[in-house]
Amino acid sequence: MRAHLAHLASLGVDALWLSPIHPSPNVDWGYDVADYREVHSDYGTLADYDALVAEARGHGIEVWLDLVPNHTSDKHAWFTERPEYYVWSDDVPNDWKSVFTGGSAWEYDADRKRYYLHQFAPQQPDLDWWNPDVRDEFDGILRFWFDRGVRGLRIDVAHGLIKDRELRDGDEYLRLRPEVHDIYARWQEVAAEYDPKPVLMGETYMNDLDELRPYWQHLDLAQNFPFANAEFTLSELRPIVEWTMAELPRDRQACWFASNHDHSRMATRWAHGNIDKHKAGLFLLLTLPGTAILYQGDEIGLEDGPVPADRILDLATPSRDYERTPMPWTRDGREWQDPWLPLTDTSRNVEDQEDDPNSILNWTRHLIQERKTFSDDTYATDESTNQWVWAYRRGDKTCVINMTAARRLWNGRVLLPWECLIL
Ligand code: GLC
Repeated sequence: MRAHLAHLASLGVDALWLSPIHPSPNVDWGYDVADYREVHSDYGTLADYDALVAEARGHGIEVWLDLVPNHTSDKHAWFTERPEYYVWSDDVPNDWKSVFTGGSAWEYDADRKRYYLHQFAPQQPDLDWWNPDVRDEFDGILRFWFDRGVRGLRIDVAHGLIKDRELRDGDEYLRLRPEVHDIYARWQEVAAEYDPKPVLMGETYMNDLDELRPYWQHLDLAQNFPFANAEFTLSELRPIVEWTMAELPRDRQACWFASNHDHSRMATRWAHGNIDKHKAGLFLLLTLPGTAILYQGDEIGLEDGPVPADRILDLATPSRDYERTPMPWTRDGREWQDPWLPLTDTSRNVEDQEDDPNSILNWTRHLIQERKTFSDDTYATDESTNQWVWAYRRGDKTCVINMTAARRLWNGRVLLPWECLIL
């Protein structure tokens, strides 16, 4: 990672969000944490982490970590030593289902002769956030990393920490509980002990935009999943953007992304491999007001990679490994020796794109520079928008995207398929 910080700096990136770096049996690739205060030996040591933070800062980049507070690994010492930190029941109390197995979210523990809750894999028992000791533990974990220079946290399953106390039937009692916001109010108090205050960004996974609103109370950033999950069409995206910009409280920023380690990449899902369409996707993402998150590879148009069945590592169905294949830095992929997932297609790679002024990489760089020149953080759909061309005002400039694969007439000019302009 340290070797590639210059690449991120040359893009104009402000912060680097790392997926979990902690010791983990890797049943769910780091999202089953066995020790929140250590670094997985595959990645290095705490000293290596400190060096990464220092070096990143030298490039003007802050490091953000992924905090997984909803569940631990069943190999975390707490699961043996502090069973009261988890959610137990004498019998299967309700119809809650595991996201990964599709079966009951309750697993029988033969030693304790009770069932424990696991919203995800059986090896990922859910913590009991009604237990004040769990809250105290996490205050300590936050401070541990903030003391070590972490300037932001991406909070895994941010909508799912609190479960209904009575364990009633129905998904609405498993997730999106209103009491979860108390936890983030408290974490903001912890964060406020630091200057600058670290950013709290939620993986606020919801399909309904209305459900996002309460998360803006105490999270600095709430990731906009309806945006990411929409088709790349004007009719789907425009209402999402307009709703978000209209509803956002004054002191909050929108948070846009179109790829991550759980979703088919934007170059595949949005653009179906079409370079111009992918460039239009990047344009939208990077010219909207607020925070934009790029997933590694978005900047070169990396598509989901082929992974043969015998190389699949992910426990989820459908597999998320296709969007987790390695980053091609060079034409021949020589930098990867025995990568965890195969590197098959290097046709889009950093080396080639560095040299090409029209590359996706240089387009991404250009857009990141441009976004820094908007005079304010406002958004307004321009009246010149028609059913094919999306025009919106950003401060004193107007952004224009031909959202179709055909030439379109807009304001007396002809736009090429997926052409984007800043005027
Ligand atoms: C989040 C992560 C995902 C993980 C799950 C369980 O959705 O992004 O990768 O599998 O939480 O921790």
